[in-house]
Amino acid sequence: MSSQVQEIKNAVDIATIIGERVKLTRSGKNLRGLCPFHSEKSPSFFVTPDMQRYKCFGCGKSGDVLNFIQEYESLPFPDALQLLADRAGIRLEKKTFSKEDQHRKTLFEVLDLASEYYHYLLTSHESGAPAREYLKNRGVFSDSITTFKLGYALNSWDAVQKFLIGKKKFSQLELEDAGLIIHSSGGRYYDRFRDRVMFPLTHATGATVGFSGRVLNPNEKEAKYINSPETALYHKSELLFGYSVLKQFMRKEEEVVVVEGELDAISSYQAGVKNVVAIKGSAFTEQQFRLLSRTVKRVVLSLDADSAGVEATKRAIETSKQFDLSLRVLPIVGGKDPDEIARENPAEWREMVKHTVSAFEFLVESALKKYDLQSGEGKRLASKEIMPILSQIANAIEQSHYVSMIADRFEVKPDVVFQELEKQKKKNEMGGSLSKQKTPSVVVETNSPRERLERFMILSLLNGSTTIEDSDISSEDFSNGVCKEIFTFMQKTNSTDPKTVSEALNDELKPAFSDLYLESEQVGNDKKTFVDARTRLRHMIASDRLTALGQQLKKLENSPNQSVEQQKVIETLQNEMSEISTRLVSN
Ligand code: CTP
Ligand code: MN
Repeated sequence: MSSQVQEIKNAVDIATIIGERVKLTRSGKNLRGLCPFHSEKSPSFFVTPDMQRYKCFGCGKSGDVLNFIQEYESLPFPDALQLLADRAGIRLEKKTFSKEDQHRKTLFEVLDLASEYYHYLLTSHESGAPAREYLKNRGVFSDSITTFKLGYALNSWDAVQKFLIGKKKFSQLELEDAGLIIHSSGGRYYDRFRDRVMFPLTHATGATVGFSGRVLNPNEKEAKYINSPETALYHKSELLFGYSVLKQFMRKEEEVVVVEGELDAISSYQAGVKNVVAIKGSAFTEQQFRLLSRTVKRVVLSLDADSAGVEATKRAIETSKQFDLSLRVLPIVGGKDPDEIARENPAEWREMVKHTVSAFEFLVESALKKYDLQSGEGKRLASKEIMPILSQIANAIEQSHYVSMIADRFEVKPDVVFQELEKQKKKNEMGGSLSKQKTPSVVVETNSPRERLERFMILSLLNGSTTIEDSDISSEDFSNGVCKEIFTFMQKTNSTDPKTVSEALNDELKPAFSDLYLESEQVGNDKKTFVDARTRLRHMIASDRLTALGQQLKKLENSPNQSVEQQKVIETLQNEMSEISTRLVSN
């Protein structure tokens, strides 16, 4: 096994494989880009072709090309190995896999063949005629049938078995594990999908992991859609219909439009809004957000405006908070779904996706709609629901924008809304536990991974994970102005006692300091965590220095006639660079 793994690793180039998935630019001997595993604005993800390894100095993830593929494509080891083997044109020996891995591989083959089979029936077989007719009536173009590899399952109890078992020699157990057939209580097996239009459900890489099937006949007593059951390969909560096929468009737009159903996604695609996925129902899960957060910066949620859709949107807004994604809502009103709108009027759909509202506006609107705003009671109830949301908006200008809007709707003066808002803020302060506290006016803005680590250095000093002497950090280590100043004052007073330091600080810094102090009581004070964080900070400082050096060098090297002096400077810079690079990569 190990020799084949090595052979495959040798046969592919990490820079090429990663470069196909992450935009990399040269930085000395290394390549550098935005880390695909966490959100960041300045690139701290490095690929070192010399060592065939990658490392992110922001989140700490590192490894070789296989680790990268496993993590990036969310594939288990054998599948990642297979992907690279295919890439390198190497045939994997069967014994490379454990029994379980081999089984998974078989299931992929079963589903891939099933997908081919259903697709063939839809596109080329005479029995597929009614399904072709159905899709035509629904406005699905034949291009889309190809793009999404749609299919048709025959109206038969055993057609898929005849093909996959009879012809292709797979076993009943394998088909059952793939979710294609069902074991009846009478002990017989029958096809799960019968007389349905088939939508292949694919993994992020494009491999088929399951299906959903829609009935043709609208009067059918059976469920309109049935889906594969949870299997070793198919997990409903992780799946986004359209993701693997359309992710290129999402990358390009840095945005995705999220709709409910398969046909909503297909019609949107046909109308030219190609950066679309369907969550297949109304729950938008954390795993789905995670998958999207690797590809886009903005998510536009376009779920039904019925009450279930509103509830689902609210939950999605909550779930989205843990991701660095901007979330907008596209409310669908008037009883039509995106499929109908996009089909009847493609231009209208293209226009609609440009006019989204903020999550906040959506929440306020849905609260306002719930109550009778003509009555005092209705206004009170609506305001009770809105104030907690309003009080969470950190930006005062944005907040006052909504205050005017709400005042308008309630037909009261803005002052009255402000009064209520103040009451709410007091409530938040009293009731709001420290863990829930909202950002006060002066805060330590920590926007980059590096600043977050700097902040953590201060927290560690305050909670006693380390002392000024033992910390082995200096004010030069800080790039964040506020952190730097606070650290300098701690050094000056040679103390981390909140009172002593706070007295030494000027008034402007006091609130920020007291915030840090409060937060420090909530983070653990374990020395190892501190040391690890310090190491990461050092790496980042070094890699920031590398970038600066790189830029300096570029300038010098580009200047037309270089004096001997300049050449010496270049050499010194190059030496420093290679010294830092070696240090960075060696640990
Ligand atoms: N769905 C499902 N199982 C069901 C019903 C619905 O998985 N029994 C999923 C499907 O992905 C479906 C989506 O939920 O597309 C939304 O369902 P619904 O609003 O009922 O259907 P539409 O999307 O309008 O479906 P169609 O346009 O095909 O009638
Ligand atoms: Mn529909």
